Amino acid sequence: MTLKINSGRLFDRIKRLAQVGADDAGGVCRLALTDADKEGRDLVMGWMHAAGLDVEIDQIGNIFGTRRGEQNVAPIMTGSHIDTVRSGGKLDGAYGVLAGLEVAETLNDNGIKTRRPFVVAVFTNEEGARFQPDMMGSLVHAGGLAVEEALSATDATGIPLRQELLRIGYAGAVPCGHIRPHQFVELHIEQGPVLERMNIPIGVVENLQGISWTELTITGQANHAGTTPMSMRSDAGYGASALAVAVRGIAEELGGTQVGTVGKIEMFPNVINVVPGKARMTVDLRNTDEGLLCRAETLLENCIEKLAENEGLEISSRQLARFQPVTFDPLIADVIERHAKQLGLPSMRMTSGAGHDAQMMARVCPSAMIFVPSVGGVSHNPAEHTDSVHLEGGANMLLNVVHELAQLAH
Ligand code: HGY
Ligand code: MN
Ligand code: MN
Repeated sequence: MTLKINSGRLFDRIKRLAQVGADDAGGVCRLALTDADKEGRDLVMGWMHAAGLDVEIDQIGNIFGTRRGEQNVAPIMTGSHIDTVRSGGKLDGAYGVLAGLEVAETLNDNGIKTRRPFVVAVFTNEEGARFQPDMMGSLVHAGGLAVEEALSATDATGIPLRQELLRIGYAGAVPCGHIRPHQFVELHIEQGPVLERMNIPIGVVENLQGISWTELTITGQANHAGTTPMSMRSDAGYGASALAVAVRGIAEELGGTQVGTVGKIEMFPNVINVVPGKARMTVDLRNTDEGLLCRAETLLENCIEKLAENEGLEISSRQLARFQPVTFDPLIADVIERHAKQLGLPSMRMTSGAGHDAQMMARVCPSAMIFVPSVGGVSHNPAEHTDSVHLEGGANMLLNVVHELAQLAH
């Protein structure tokens, strides 16, 4: 039996949640544990309660809404995040959470009892935009990061995560990792150009690339921009800029799936007529192959050493996140592919360039992902968009995959 979601309800909720943290660029800013994140959490919790789910909050603020099953066995779980990057889009994370909620509502509407309980999870701080590492809530849930260590993370202004969690009222009492799902399936926008370019509505995500995040602090000597001869400068600003160019060079040298991004550079004192005495920057390196990702990291270290020596700079690095590539569960991928066929939706197997909570859940249970196309491949940008027909198709996919998995004994 092929089930269909109530697309009107899903679209209304996507629109409603997007109003929380809406910025004047048409995007959304719900940085983890800010007031906007709290408002979004409150909204989703309200919907979970109204859908009759048992709602729990764990010690890192992850929210779990459980639809009871006929048997008290390990649940099928879906989930994603509602925190965003600064000036992000309306769908990244939110779509997967709200589609999960829609699955529960549709099962309720049809009076369907499932053998296994079904859980919708909202993971804390998936983006890592304010507190690092990213995928933090699901990483703690999967036992990859001690909750105490996560709670002591601080943002760029020195505010501890623990304090923010308490302030917004989401410092739950439930121990982290309290639910060990039988299987985990996450629905997410692709955030890349592949599905749109191939004109295919469903991505069956088989694997996800490794991620290496580093913060570099470059120390030189602040000096007068007019009187200091070029040969006598220790210019931290030049150092940061040269490393940004080097990151691009590393990606081009390795080719393949290697990507490299310098998303943040801060100069100090950041004044027109002062040679920067200090700079702080971030480097995001990713590759589907762990060996090549290590190679990229080594090439970066070599660039740092050479630059420090040539320019008389001191360069220290702090690792913010490091995750190996992940392979998802082939059996669940087959179930996803079969339901795409049954729904008459062309699908293709693919890799995820972005990090997702599913990559952490894969540490504790068989996990997989479903992607839908992103217009222009754009994401982490107010222009992020997915056509309604694809949002509906993806949610119907999640509904039918979850419905099948939740009935199975094994
Ligand atoms: O960085 C990522 O890939 C994810 O959006 N946190
Ligand atoms: Mn996401
Ligand atoms: Mn994201």
